[in-house]
Amino acid sequence: MMLNSIQSICCIGAGYVGGPTMAVIADRCPEIMVNVVDLNEDRIAAWNDPDLSRLPIYEPGLDAVVQRARGRNLFFSCEVDEAISSADMVFISVNTPTKRKGVGAGQASDLRWVEACARQVAKCSKGHTVVVEKSTLPVRTAVAIKAILDIPSRKNHTNDSIPTFSVLSNPEFLAEGTAIADLENPDRVLIGGDNQEAVEALVNIYKHWVSEDKILRTKLWSSELSKLTANAFLAQRISSINAVAALCETTGADVREVALAIGTDSRIGSKFLNAGPGFGGSCFKKDILNLVYLCHYFGLPEVADYWSKVVDLNTWQQSRIARLLVQKLFGTVTAKRIAILGFAFKANTNDTRESPAIRISLDLIEEGAQLAIHDPKVDPTQIELDLKQQPSTVDSNLLAEGTWHFTDSVEEALKGADAVLILTEWEEYRRLNWAFLASLMRAPAWVFDTRSVVDSKQISEAGLILWRLGQGED
Ligand code: UDX
Ligand code: ADP
Repeated sequence: MMLNSIQSICCIGAGYVGGPTMAVIADRCPEIMVNVVDLNEDRIAAWNDPDLSRLPIYEPGLDAVVQRARGRNLFFSCEVDEAISSADMVFISVNTPTKRKGVGAGQASDLRWVEACARQVAKCSKGHTVVVEKSTLPVRTAVAIKAILDIPSRKNHTNDSIPTFSVLSNPEFLAEGTAIADLENPDRVLIGGDNQEAVEALVNIYKHWVSEDKILRTKLWSSELSKLTANAFLAQRISSINAVAALCETTGADVREVALAIGTDSRIGSKFLNAGPGFGGSCFKKDILNLVYLCHYFGLPEVADYWSKVVDLNTWQQSRIARLLVQKLFGTVTAKRIAILGFAFKANTNDTRESPAIRISLDLIEEGAQLAIHDPKVDPTQIELDLKQQPSTVDSNLLAEGTWHFTDSVEEALKGADAVLILTEWEEYRRLNWAFLASLMRAPAWVFDTRSVVDSKQISEAGLILWRLGQGED
């Protein structure tokens, strides 16, 4: 096989990374067969659903890309072994959550799914296969993958047919909610690897739509470390602005004005300076903890402590919001109704992994509140999993303490509420009719806006009391 003419790709893992990434590759490279496989049958069934509004993940623009390529050169299935054996290139896009037990628990990544994939690739591959790490992985994972790939069960192979492998690192920098735009027009594509032929084979795929000057070739280790570092830097910016937000609240400054003033310095730049309830998502916390673990492992405790603080500040930000709300509502929320607007970790996604809404809701439930949760895209069954508590039947018991239920509309969530807490910056929350909504609430009613989405004039004209994150009082 000529490496630079990849004809068939297999992607293991049909999640938030694997699904959209492969859809865009298939869309842009119609001559390449792209098989996306996953062990989760329900997820695969949803990717194959003729009703494109039922794809397993919500991403603006994803439905159109899937519609163009699915059934042509993009296929979703549970036939993992078959897809691996027919592929020239295998992407590993499985989940790598933080370890819960054993060495490195709470910090290191759990690589059991990556290892399982490597073993399966070793067993099923034929000829030469390029294995691409797409999941975010700790530095030097490629060594482990390579070690597993290099000991295939040779008894099934004649000497001529012993499979061979090259391992590349090609981290994905897409952000959820803008995944398709990020994939179609990336700032850069990073490819790390030692085997030049394999690197160029992957470069040739991206060259279908990405200009050559945006494709960076590096050592494997640099590529793996760059992904962790990029996420650590981005998360650090959010913790920095959130720290300043708390200072603004106590000193009478406004964090949005400070963000504008510092962001216009071209060395700092204006992006990623929105104060909020803390960062969520599957990557930031996990990747920083991973970096912290690596620093300890390599004997750099000061560096580990430095990055640890970014996560500590984020946890503090979430718990201070819950505490502040209780304090403003006369020190108690027991049996009070609180509307939570937004449960996703950011707008334009149905993903709730590490969403600040989880910790904040749990804290308020612990304080005895009755939460009415609204989100335009998150499924209530996901909220139940996140809160590890069944929803109450609506209005079953007005005196009930420490409950939650889901509402289909904002109006329903606000009925009889003492406060509304906005946690996700969904566009529809910017256009609410507060004059009407205020009439549904119990006075004195509060609006806690952690995302700067409401118009303060409208809120005060509606007779509501506004607390806005990062805005100090004069
Ligand atoms: C992130 C990285 O951006 C992406 O490159 C990487 O591949 C995966 O991790 P993602 O988690 O999808 O992407 O979303 P992102 O837009 O980075 O937001 C992460 C969190 O930070 C969200 O909770 C968001 O609300 C928060 N955030 C972001 C802020 O609070 N303020 C900001 O200014 C920006
Ligand atoms: P990400 O955000 O990194 O894409 P997800 O959790 O959304 O993470 O997706 C990872 C997917 O990988 C899941 O759908 C999971 O079922 C799948 N997966 C994990 N291990 C394997 C495996 N050994 N073979 C096939 N699929 C796997």
